[in-house]
Amino acid sequence: MTSLCGGTKVVEVTSLSAEESRVPAATTDHAQTGAVTELELRDVTVTFGGLTALSGVGLALQHGQVHGVIGPNGAGKTTLFNVACGFVRPDTGTIERAGRPVPGLRTRDLAGLGMARTLQGLGLFDRMTVLENVMVGAERHARSGFAAALLATLGSSRDEAALRERAREVLDGLGIAHHADRYPTSLPYPVRKRVALARALAADPEVLLLDEPASGLSGSEIEELGDLVRTLAGRTSVLLVEHHMDLVMRVCDHITVLDFGRVIASGPPDVVRDDPAVLAAYLGESVA
Ligand SMILES: Nc1ncnc2c1ncn2[C@@H]1O[C@H](COP(=O)(O)OP(=O)(O)OP(=O)(O)O)[C@@H](O)[C@H]1O
Ligand SMILES: [Mg+2]
Repeated sequence: MTSLCGGTKVVEVTSLSAEESRVPAATTDHAQTGAVTELELRDVTVTFGGLTALSGVGLALQHGQVHGVIGPNGAGKTTLFNVACGFVRPDTGTIERAGRPVPGLRTRDLAGLGMARTLQGLGLFDRMTVLENVMVGAERHARSGFAAALLATLGSSRDEAALRERAREVLDGLGIAHHADRYPTSLPYPVRKRVALARALAADPEVLLLDEPASGLSGSEIEELGDLVRTLAGRTSVLLVEHHMDLVMRVCDHITVLDFGRVIASGPPDVVRDDPAVLAAYLGESVA
């Protein structure tokens, strides 16, 4: 099986590039640190019936960083992810993208905001080939900014050829171009996960949201995933929601730890790792 990073290959995310930024350059400038915030959630609370899934949660994803969200089962990670990508509207709280309030984020708005996501489930279209699935990601990007104007001036066949080429390029970067004409259901789960990642990357996102990208992967595949995520950081900012503590500790610049819907720790990996509240939360989980 080809490696997730394609050995020495690196995903090239420049062709349908984001020069003509879909959103203004990030502007939430933190004077003291010089950090620039790409995505910020403030005081977010989400309830499902009587259950409080998130309570007063805040998080700031800084430009070019990998920001991990960890926590035991049911801690609220996916709910936080869904708020960040607009699947779930919080009861209270705000979301800002590059310093601008995002009042009602819909799925189709994501590409226009320079964002892409992969889901905890795969969310692939079973009746489309791998290539077509990834073309959907490229198309979302193409329709959202500079490339939209460009493509509007081209004939539809050239349009499709550009998307096809873009999709192949991303698949190649992930070492799975040889699966381009297969259907997702005929492929092993780890390959399908890479296809889902390829579809997100084809949108050339400035902010990439990943929900449990390591689930179902073997130890070596998780290592490769970690290398890939680090490679992506810098040109894209990554929000990594993940259960695998080791992966998160290795690749993240900053980590937010949730437990029972609340932030119990937030900081760099070496600080979070030794936090008594974090140890207690995970110890509680392993005892359970
Ligand atoms: N749509 C929903 N309706 C009702 N309750 C929900 C819904 N989604 C999540 N919950 C509940 O909210 C809490 C947080 O769930 P969430 O899926 O966000 O946790 P998680 O940290 O992602 O868990 P896991 O590690 O198992 O993926 C859980 O108690 C869950 O049962
Ligand atoms: Mg989850």
